[in-house]
Amino acid sequence: MTEKNDDRPPVALEQRGVGADQRMFSPSAARNVAPILAVLQRVLPSHGVVLEIGCGTGEHAACFAEALPQLTWCPSDPDPDARASTASWTSFAGLSNVRAPLDIDVCASAWGVEQEAPFDAIVSLNMVHIAPWAASLGLFAGASRMLRADAPLILYGPFMRDGTHNAPSNAAFDASLRARNPSWGVRDISDLERLGKASGLILRETIEMPANNRSLVFVKGMNG
Ligand SMILES: C[S@@+](CC[C@H](N)C(=O)[O-])C[C@H]1O[C@@H](n2cnc3c(N)ncnc32)[C@H](O)[C@@H]1O
Repeated sequence: MTEKNDDRPPVALEQRGVGADQRMFSPSAARNVAPILAVLQRVLPSHGVVLEIGCGTGEHAACFAEALPQLTWCPSDPDPDARASTASWTSFAGLSNVRAPLDIDVCASAWGVEQEAPFDAIVSLNMVHIAPWAASLGLFAGASRMLRADAPLILYGPFMRDGTHNAPSNAAFDASLRARNPSWGVRDISDLERLGKASGLILRETIEMPANNRSLVFVKGMNG
């Protein structure tokens, strides 16, 4: 998923007073950040607090927070290296609207941020297929508990529809995921839509994205 950045001299960071460079780089994040930002600019609320689940390297968090300064970004990831990288990206960019990365595993019955709820949006990019189905269950259960009414849950990644992949490359990717871990795999929009309904979240929009990916925008019902 990620590569350590060994190119940049640490002194550049020391001069900024942000300590050791722990930023990791993901080639795919660099490629998809602009099209995802375009979606977020349209579907996120103009103000408020956004919880990001499975932030990975933190490149997305840094870019989105810089482009959307009226929002407060709360990145989270259960992986300590991901959290260190995200904190490093935030420090390097000098962003004041990104909170310290949180340790959230969506499968946990409590996420540790209950006292901060309701959130104005939840974003999870490229997570549900590289995690067991239990992570999708946990994500929707948490979103149902933690989102403000009418607030969006935005997913991004490869998704199939009614058992059919939208590209041979996604079918191959799905097979490779399942070979690595039988509980992983590209998720079906119909399954997520059913899960959303059961959790009080309605699929409002499916957006075709570059490289055969999709963005899914769920919205928490007013009575949820
Ligand atoms: C493929 S990476 C995607 C990172 C980033 N969102 C991106 O698009 O580049 C998947 C991330 O999901 C996180 N993740 C896996 N299982 C999770 C879980 N149960 N709860 C929260 N995050 C999880 C991993 O630690 C990892 O950082």
